[in-house]
Amino acid sequence: MVELDSTLYGIDLAHIHVDGYGFHWAGAADAILKWFDEFGISSSDKVVDLGCGGGQWLERLTQEGYETCGIDVSEAMIHIGKQNAPKSQFLCGSFDEVKIPSCRAVTSLGEPLNYLNSGPAIRRTMRNVFSALQSGGVFIFDVRHPAKGPLAVRNHHQMSEDWFCHARVEEDHRKKQLTRFITTFLCLENGKYRREEEVHRLKVFSRAEIAEWLRNIGFRVRTKRGYGIYQLGPRQSVFICRKPES
Ligand SMILES: C[S@@+](CC[C@H](N)C(=O)[O-])C[C@H]1O[C@@H](n2cnc3c(N)ncnc32)[C@H](O)[C@@H]1O
Repeated sequence: MVELDSTLYGIDLAHIHVDGYGFHWAGAADAILKWFDEFGISSSDKVVDLGCGGGQWLERLTQEGYETCGIDVSEAMIHIGKQNAPKSQFLCGSFDEVKIPSCRAVTSLGEPLNYLNSGPAIRRTMRNVFSALQSGGVFIFDVRHPAKGPLAVRNHHQMSEDWFCHARVEEDHRKKQLTRFITTFLCLENGKYRREEEVHRLKVFSRAEIAEWLRNIGFRVRTKRGYGIYQLGPRQSVFICRKPES
C-alpha cells in the first residue's frame, strides 16, 4: 500500500492547476492523437487516463469520439473533471490500486506516475496497465528523471487574477526524490485570500530504468523528448509503449 498525502490537489490547488497549468495536456494532445492513429487506435475505442486531473484531456478525447475513463486520487480534481468531461466515466482512487478497465489505450500526462513515490508501486501500475490493455494497445505517459549533482533548489511561481501559486522545489538526486513545497493564495467571494499548503513528494527514476521495467513486463518501448512540437524539459521523457499483438 502506497502512502499518499490525503491533501494532494485539494480544492484550491485543483482549481489553480486546471486554470493555470492546462498547457501541458493541451501541448501533448495533437501528438498523442496522431500516435493513436498510427497504432490503429480508432476513435470509438476506450482510453483510460491515469491522474486525469480536471478532465480537460478526457473531454478532448470524448470530442474525438473516444470512450473515456479518468482515474484520479484527488476528489477535488474528480469533481472538476465531471463538470469538464460530463460524458466520461471517473474512478476516484490511486491508480496502482483501482482496477483499470479493459481498454485500447492508457495515457498519463504531467508526471502522475512519479507521484506514486515508490518504484514497486510504479511497476505494479505498469503491470496493471499491461493487463488492462487489449492486444496491440498503447500506454503513453511522461515522467521526470533525477537531477544531476547534489541537492538542487529552485523556486517557481505563477499567478492569475484570482490566485497566486509558489513552489519551492528541492531535488535530491541521491535519494531520487523531488519535493515540491507548494503555497497557494486563492481569492474568495468576500475578496479575502485563503492560504493553503501542500507538499508533493515524487520519486524520480532514470529513462533506462523505466524502459527496462516496461520491457520486462512485455511492452515494446520507445522514448521521446516531447509530444511532437511540444518539447519537455531535459529531465523529462515521453514513453510510448505497445502491448504486442497476441
Ligand atoms: C500534475 S497533475 C496532472 C493532471 C493532468 N493529467 C494534466 O496533465 O493536467 C497530477 C495528477 O495526478 C494525480 N495523482 C497523483 N498521484 C495519483 C495516484 N496515485 N493515483 C491517482 N491519481 C494520482 C493528481 O491528483 C493530479 O490530478
